[in-house]
Amino acid sequence: MLTKTLYASSLLSTLQLAVAAPASHVAGYTNADASFSVTPSSIYPLATSFGPDSQVPAIETSAPSAPPRVSSNLSRATSHGPFSGTPTTTGAVEANTTLAKSIAPLPPNPTATYYNSQGVLLNPAPAPYTPNGGLGTNGTEPRYMVNSDFDFESIALGLYQEWIELDLFNNGLAVFSDEDFIEAGLTAEDRSYIAFMAIQESGHSTLLTNMLGEAAPKQCTYNYPYSTVREFIDFNQKITRFGESGVWGFINHLDSREVGQLLAQSIATEARQQMSFRQMLGLHPMPVWFETGIPQSWAWSYLAPYISSCPENQTRLAWQNFPALNFVNQPNPNRFSPNDTKPFETVGNRTADPSDSNIPTNETCVNLHVTGYSCGPAIAHNRSEPLSFPGKQVNLTWDAPGHTVGPNDSYITSTSAKQPKFVAWVSQLNLTYTPLVTIGNNSGYTYQPAGEVYEGDPAVNGTMFVALTDSDIFLTPFNLSMINPHVVALGLYQAG
Ligand SMILES: *[C@@H]1O[C@H](CO)[C@@H](O)[C@H](O)[C@H]1NC(C)=O
Ligand SMILES: *[C@@H]1O[C@H](CO)[C@@H](O)[C@H](O)[C@H]1NC(C)=O
Ligand SMILES: *[C@@H]1O[C@H](CO)[C@@H](O)[C@H](O)[C@H]1NC(C)=O
Ligand SMILES: *[C@@H]1O[C@H](CO)[C@@H](O)[C@H](O)[C@H]1NC(C)=O
Ligand SMILES: *[C@@H]1O[C@H](CO)[C@@H](O)[C@H](O)[C@H]1NC(C)=O
Ligand SMILES: *[C@@H]1O[C@H](CO)[C@@H](O)[C@H](O)[C@H]1NC(C)=O
Ligand SMILES: *[C@@H]1O[C@H](CO)[C@@H](O)[C@H](O)[C@H]1NC(C)=O
Ligand SMILES: *[C@@H]1O[C@H](CO)[C@@H](O)[C@H](O)[C@H]1NC(C)=O
Ligand SMILES: *[C@@H]1O[C@H](CO)[C@@H](O)[C@H](O)[C@H]1NC(C)=O
Ligand SMILES: *[C@@H]1O[C@H](CO)[C@@H](O)[C@H](O)[C@H]1NC(C)=O
Ligand SMILES: *[C@@H]1O[C@H](CO)[C@@H](O)[C@H](O)[C@H]1NC(C)=O
Ligand SMILES: *[C@@H]1O[C@H](CO)[C@@H](O)[C@H](O)[C@H]1NC(C)=O
Repeated sequence: MLTKTLYASSLLSTLQLAVAAPASHVAGYTNADASFSVTPSSIYPLATSFGPDSQVPAIETSAPSAPPRVSSNLSRATSHGPFSGTPTTTGAVEANTTLAKSIAPLPPNPTATYYNSQGVLLNPAPAPYTPNGGLGTNGTEPRYMVNSDFDFESIALGLYQEWIELDLFNNGLAVFSDEDFIEAGLTAEDRSYIAFMAIQESGHSTLLTNMLGEAAPKQCTYNYPYSTVREFIDFNQKITRFGESGVWGFINHLDSREVGQLLAQSIATEARQQMSFRQMLGLHPMPVWFETGIPQSWAWSYLAPYISSCPENQTRLAWQNFPALNFVNQPNPNRFSPNDTKPFETVGNRTADPSDSNIPTNETCVNLHVTGYSCGPAIAHNRSEPLSFPGKQVNLTWDAPGHTVGPNDSYITSTSAKQPKFVAWVSQLNLTYTPLVTIGNNSGYTYQPAGEVYEGDPAVNGTMFVALTDSDIFLTPFNLSMINPHVVALGLYQAG
C-alpha cells in the first residue's frame, strides 16, 4: 500500500514537473529563437510487446567473400604471465650507420607563411571543383604499403599495440565472471560491447599486417596488471590512450600518405574505444579539447613492459625504452575523494598500471549513486572533487636506466639525458614544463601547472603524459620527438 502510494505520487510529480518545466537557459546566450514550440509530452505508456514489425521493401542479398583476417576473433591461443627464459638478443634494432647523436634544431622554414592571404585561387585547377595542390591527388593508384624505415617501424609499433588489445579485451571477459562485471556496474550489453572492440582489433591487426608485408610482427604473450574489473577497465583506458596518442604523434610524418589514410581510419576507432573505457570507469569521457600526440619511443616505453615474450624470429623494433617515472600520489579514480589517495595506490610500478580498486567500501565511488560523487559507468559524470588540480604537489620516483623490459626481456631501458631538472607535461596541443625539486637520487616533486591551451581550456587534464627532462627545450606537437634525447624517465598521469 505504502509502495503504491509512493509510486503514484512520484509519477504525478514527474508529470507536473514536465508541464511546469521552464525552458532551460544558457547563461549569456540570448535570442535562441526556437522556430518551434516545445510541448511537454508524457513518456507513458511504454511498449510492452515487440513485434511483428511492418514489412519494408527489401531484396535477397548475400555478402561477396571478404578478405581474410590474420587472426580469428580471439587470435591465437596465448598464455599469460611474466617471461622466465633467457633473452637471445638484447637492445633495439639499429641501423648499420647512425649519423649523429641527435637531430640538430633548425630555424623555421623562411617561406613558411600563410599561403594565400586573399582567399582566391592562385593556380590553374587540375579539374572542375578541384583546387590545385594536395599530395596524392594526381590520379596515381594508391599503394597502401610502408615506404621507409620510419614508416615500417611506426606501423610495426602500431601492430604490436593492436595485437595486445585483441588479446587484452578478450582476456578481461574471460577471467572475470558476469557477477564481477555487474559489481563494477557493467551489464551483459557492456560485455558484448567490449567483445566487439576485441573483434575490431582483429581487423586493425589485419590492416597493419598487410601494410607491412612478410616481416609484420606476430602476436605475443602478455603479462597483465589487473585483478578486478575496475582495474581491467582502468588498464584499457590507459593502453588505448597511449595507443591512440602514439599514432597521432607520427601519422603526419609518414612517407606513405596512403598508409596514413587507412591508419587514421583505424585510430579513429581506437579513440572511440578510449572514450568508452573512460566512461565505463565513470571518468569524464573527454575532459580536453584536443587529443595529444606522443613520440613512438614513448608509446613503446609504455607498452613494452606488458609484453612477456614473442614468437621466434619476431621482427624487432628500433624505438627507445625509457626508464619508468612513477607518481607517488597518482589520483585514484575509484575514490570519491581523490585527495585521500594513499602513496603508491596503484597495483604495481609499471607506468600504465591501474589504480588499486581494493579500497575500503566507505571510500569508493563505484557503487555510490550520489551526483558529483559516483564513478560508476555513465555517459558523463561531474566530479565534485577533481582527480587532480593546478598547484597540486605531485611526488615522483623514477627508475635508473639499464633494466630489461619487453618481449623476452630483450630490450633495455636507456636515457641519454643529463641530470633531471624539469617535469614536462604533454597534454592537448601543449608541452608545459615545471621545475623539478629533487630529493635524493631518484625522487622529487613538482607542482601541477595551471596554463590553458586556449582561454577556458586547462591544458592538463585526462589521462596524460609526463616526462622528466634535463632541459626545457621549446617544442610543439609536430616536432615533439626532439624531446627524446632530454628524457630521463617517462610516466602516465591520471589528471582527470
Ligand atoms: C566473430 O564474432 C562475430 C560477432 O560475435 C561472429 O558473428 C562471427 O561469427 C565470429 N567469427 C568467428 C570466425 O568466430
Ligand atoms: C648492414 O651491413 C651488412 C654488412 O655490410 C649487410 O650485409 C647488411 O645487408 C646491412 N643491413 C642493412 C639493413 O643494410
Ligand atoms: C603523382 O603523385 C605520386 C604520389 O602520390 C607520385 O609518386 C607520382 O610521381 C606523381 N606522378 C606524377 C605524374 O606526377
Ligand atoms: C621468447 O621466448 C619464448 C619462450 O621461451 C621462445 O619460444 C621464443 O622463441 C623467444 N622469442 C624470441 C624472439 O627470442
Ligand atoms: C626462424 O628463422 C630461422 C632462420 O631463418 C628458420 O630456420 C626458422 O624456421 C624460423 N622459425 C620460425 C618459427 O619461423
Ligand atoms: C584537496 O586539496 C586541495 C589542496 O589542499 C584543497 O584545496 C581541496 O579543497 C581539497 N579537496 C577537498 C574536497 O577537500
Ligand atoms: C612501487 O614502488 C614503491 C617505491 O619503490 C614501493 O614502495 C611500492 O611498494 C611499489 N609498488 C608495488 C605495487 O610494487
Ligand atoms: C572508512 O572506514 C574505515 C574503517 O572503518 C576508517 O578507518 C576510515 O576512516 C573510513 N573512511 C572514511 C572516508 O570515512
Ligand atoms: C557539472 O559541472 C558543471 C561545470 O563544472 C557545472 O556548471 C554544473 O552545475 C554541474 N552539474 C551538476 C549536475 O553537478
Ligand atoms: C578536468 O575536466 C573536468 C571535466 O570538465 C573538470 O571537472 C576538471 O576540473 C578539469 N581539471 C582541471 C585541472 O581543469
Ligand atoms: C610529497 O613530498 C613532500 C616532500 O618530500 C612531502 O612533504 C609530502 O608528504 C609528500 N606527499 C605525498 C602525498 O607523498
Ligand atoms: C599552450 O599552447 C598554446 C599554443 O602554442 C600557447 O599559446 C599556450 O601558451 C600554451 N599554454 C601552456 C600552459 O603551455
